Amino acid sequence: MNTITKKVDRNNINDETLREAVEVLKKGGLVAFPTETVYGLGGNALDATAAARIYAAKGRPSDNPLIVHIADIEALKILAADIPDVAYDIAREFWPGPLTMILKKQSIVPDATTGGLQTIAIRMPSDRIAGELIRQSGMFIAAPSANASGRPSTTKAEHVIEDLDGKVDYIIDGGAAEIGLESTIIDLSSDKPLILRPGYITIEQLKKLLPEIEYDKAVLRTKADDTIVAKAPGMKYKHYAPKGDLTIYEGHADKVVDKINKTAKEHIDKGYKVGILATDETKERYLYGDIKTLGSRKSEADIASHLFIMLREFDEDGIQYIYSESFNGGELGQAIMNRLLKAAGYRMENLDD
Ligand code: TXA
Ligand code: MG
Repeated sequence: MNTITKKVDRNNINDETLREAVEVLKKGGLVAFPTETVYGLGGNALDATAAARIYAAKGRPSDNPLIVHIADIEALKILAADIPDVAYDIAREFWPGPLTMILKKQSIVPDATTGGLQTIAIRMPSDRIAGELIRQSGMFIAAPSANASGRPSTTKAEHVIEDLDGKVDYIIDGGAAEIGLESTIIDLSSDKPLILRPGYITIEQLKKLLPEIEYDKAVLRTKADDTIVAKAPGMKYKHYAPKGDLTIYEGHADKVVDKINKTAKEHIDKGYKVGILATDETKERYLYGDIKTLGSRKSEADIASHLFIMLREFDEDGIQYIYSESFNGGELGQAIMNRLLKAAGYRMENLDD
């Protein structure tokens, strides 16, 4: 397949490009497009064949359900059943934006889209290109993150091309995704509201409308543990993984810097290529390897938005061992550490113990 890529300025959206993308979707084809979180790989959510194409393009297991993107709250009723009132309150508060809700599904949604589940994940993105694409297509668009299954999510069109060139019909290049981490996912399909994936919308924000919300157990784990089964099927797979071996060190900054310097030197001496995920506060203190800063600890949003970009840059440079600081604590700590731990296969050492 020949993949067409077209640039679109989100402040001056080119109608011709959007029309072409809509045509592709109407024919059952696949369009990768930017959202405020990460790029999505879109197809008609009500077309089982289009959903099957999405799984094939990503190499994704077909029991891992897709998120359905909408442009209007009215779409909730068409796609979901037994919607609790609080779902509307949450939609009004956080949509359009980086929040996905799991609800019981209506029968028009094919099993292929929901990975055979009787529930559906729904999100209204705030990115203007995403919004216009959904509106102009008149469809509901199923879109997982636009990366090859298991790799870090894509936050730039260049990354989408790396993973999916020749596998999708059309890529809308809208520049860098603003947030850079996938949406927060909450499950409202059973009595107990749960956060299945932490993201930019935090538990504190959600508690204002849903005081009883908690994290799914699988979200809080910091060690590989097969006895905890994730409620979001996608969270059980190895994920976000760079090609190099990633290890996270937590503890006092001095200890972390010393340990990383020592380990990096040992590996470089053995002939390996080493990368370090540092921060503005520590970058000058690292002595070896390819040192990349995620940004300042004063801006967690910056750190979140650079994580996947840096992991992909290490891959491009053929880095074999990556050492990272840890990012617990702040409001986005849960979301950042969730991605970083998965990328590391839960390899993390506490140096204060
Ligand atoms: O920010 C985002 O959410 C991005 C952009 C493109 O919108 N999309 C995204 O999709 O991250 P994806 O497919 O990479 O991740 C969707 C996650 C998976 O872990 C999947 O298992 C879970 O949502 N999920 C989808 N439907 C579900 C359902 N009915 N019940 C539980 N988990 C569900
Ligand atoms: Mg994904």
